[in-house]
Amino acid sequence: MKIIYTDSYYQMSRVAANLISAQVIMKPNCVLGLATGSTPIGTYTQLIRWYEKGDLDFSQVTTINLDEYKGLSPENDQSYRYFMNTHFFNSINIRPEQTHVPDGLEPDSVKACHDYNKIISDCGGIDLQLLGLGLNGHIGFNEPGSAFEKETHCIDLTESTIRANSRFFASMDLVPKQAYTMGIKTIMQAKKIVVIVNGAEKAQIVRDAFFGPITPKVPASVLQLHNDVTLVGDKEALSLVPEVE
Ligand code: GLP
Repeated sequence: MKIIYTDSYYQMSRVAANLISAQVIMKPNCVLGLATGSTPIGTYTQLIRWYEKGDLDFSQVTTINLDEYKGLSPENDQSYRYFMNTHFFNSINIRPEQTHVPDGLEPDSVKACHDYNKIISDCGGIDLQLLGLGLNGHIGFNEPGSAFEKETHCIDLTESTIRANSRFFASMDLVPKQAYTMGIKTIMQAKKIVVIVNGAEKAQIVRDAFFGPITPKVPASVLQLHNDVTLVGDKEALSLVPEVE
């Protein structure tokens, strides 16, 4: 694993955007795996700036998002489809039909997951996967205890995630209790993985995930087994990374 230390959220976002830009420039028809949450917003903002300057072209890019709340429509401002449209897709020249997010309105979980797996395999897999890190070590919505061999599946959100994500909703009761998420098996099949982390509250889980035992109790720990992971963080989030002797 490669670790890139940066001084601030802004610098972390620029580095991540640079890595994504390199992928898009080297392979204009690449497949990008994308994430939601607060962490990647700065990365998307930077990519939009470079697109506006004429340095990036997304016209041939395909995107596959990690997850979506079950039951939320694309118009719901808390859905991940809405997040992606407003923070990224609406501001670049990507073709809307080449952007994929699980269908939160599909009530049949088996169908929703099967359809999403088919989209991923039809695209030929993911070239670069961007990941944030949940406070309990989740990636996408693969919560602690998730089997490493799963593809897209429907999960019950843990109490800790519902609490963490309730900051975006008017009340805890409005946070959906289930979500569709790309599985760890699919994430691990991405050719490259870029994990972004910022803020002191992530320091302990960064240490546990990347320097602790590999265990389903800390889903992100599986990333230690991938051969092309870049961890990009600000100094607070990387403050507990053990020093190399
Ligand atoms: C959410 C998302 C994850 C994200 C994580 C961290 O629950 N499903 O994909 O990485 O939480 O979010 P944040 O970046 O806001 O800390």
